[in-house]
Amino acid sequence: MADPAVATGDQTLIRGGVVVDETGERRADVLVAGGTVVAVAEAIDVPRGARVLDAGGCIVAPGLVDLHAHLREPGDEEAECIESGARAAALGGYTAVVAMPNTEPPVDSAALAMEILALGEAAPCRISVAGCITMGRAGERLVPMAELAAVGVRIFTDDGAGVQDPDLMRRAFEYAGDLPVTLGEHCEDSRLAAGGHMNEGVASSRLGIPGIPAGAEEVMVARDLILARMTGARLHLMHLSSAGSFELLAAAKAAGIAVTAEVTPHHLSLTDEALESYDPVFKVNPPLRSRQDVAAARAGCASGLVDALATDHAPHRSETKDLPLDQASPGMIGLETAFAVALGALVRGEPDLRGEPDLGGDSRGGSGEAGSGREHLGVASLLALMSWRPARIAGLSQDRGGDQGGPIMAGRPANLCVLDTEHTWVVDPSAMASRSRNTPYAGWTLRGRARHTILAGEPVVVDFEAQR
Ligand code: DOR
Repeated sequence: MADPAVATGDQTLIRGGVVVDETGERRADVLVAGGTVVAVAEAIDVPRGARVLDAGGCIVAPGLVDLHAHLREPGDEEAECIESGARAAALGGYTAVVAMPNTEPPVDSAALAMEILALGEAAPCRISVAGCITMGRAGERLVPMAELAAVGVRIFTDDGAGVQDPDLMRRAFEYAGDLPVTLGEHCEDSRLAAGGHMNEGVASSRLGIPGIPAGAEEVMVARDLILARMTGARLHLMHLSSAGSFELLAAAKAAGIAVTAEVTPHHLSLTDEALESYDPVFKVNPPLRSRQDVAAARAGCASGLVDALATDHAPHRSETKDLPLDQASPGMIGLETAFAVALGALVRGEPDLRGEPDLGGDSRGGSGEAGSGREHLGVASLLALMSWRPARIAGLSQDRGGDQGGPIMAGRPANLCVLDTEHTWVVDPSAMASRSRNTPYAGWTLRGRARHTILAGEPVVVDFEAQR
């Protein structure tokens, strides 16, 4: 172990927490200096001049990593910008986010990818950028993927829409197969989804709102799994929401197809019954689904089938969001609430608070033991879904040359979060760092929050407050 006394540069001692990373769990203090973890030990004396961050009663973990955030810069900086989105991320415990490429203009060139990476350098969270699969997200011609990969792009997606042409998608896979990249698909057949504003089912029939069938997602999941098998290239399925998609994913993984998948906190915590309010804040793509779908999403997370939780943080100005349901833009913000919502849904097994359906959990929190079909995750498994597994998918993990996802050991990069699983707070949209207000959890009392976030050794969030 390094001698704390020889630590140089700005020193921070994270004191009194329980360290949880991929290697396990232990009671330890963590000393950070010069961007690096210098020591991890049961009781470290405070070095002279060091800043002390209290972690009593908290978990000290590798920083969270979000595979899916819309930061809206360039093009719609009124809704969000890289800096405000990064601050929201840091407040949520994230030390890295992958910025989605459906900006204006879309990220279909190495030049724009580099511009976004440069803008991200000053941000309080590490910004990685995804590239489009097709030029202008028009679904017609492939982007120069190798050029984008050469400047560090590791995920390609036309998110906001799926790539509709199966032959073009096959060529995208063939191209991607020779590069260190992954294709992320927004699985939605545009013809099947056309005209819908919410999930097609009992709730949409009752409300008389045109629906989007689960099948619109599932046909593209099935198609892309087949294309991934044909080409051997890597596929990442974004924001999966339907029970049928999880069945297809399980079969594909059992067959050895190179596929990973993410689920959002909102698809774990809300159902299509929320649309009974006709409130456009609940309009999102893919749509909030049925109780059965939510239960399948939770079960997929508990069993390890799902690889990552991703926010799909989608800020919108009130001019485009606060409109009648058929005109409102789809999407909800999620970076600042993701940990608490996921903790409630997956670890504590809380039901949907708006209607109290039984979503496959009880309220005891749990061991993650398999068997009953009502199992919950332990906190370490939740952190796997929110930190080290997404870090690998994004190509940001330490074992892939990056600096995210831990483990927390002397000599490793200090990208960390300190999570208070018991902190209760009321979601106040006007107090959030995001420039947009479209959170579906406004007024909810949530339990769990990032108390401190440390980016490259610098405390960027201290006691729930952003430091810059
Ligand atoms: O609801 C959504 N909003 N789903 C998406 O796929 C895109 C996103 C956005 O960009 O607003």
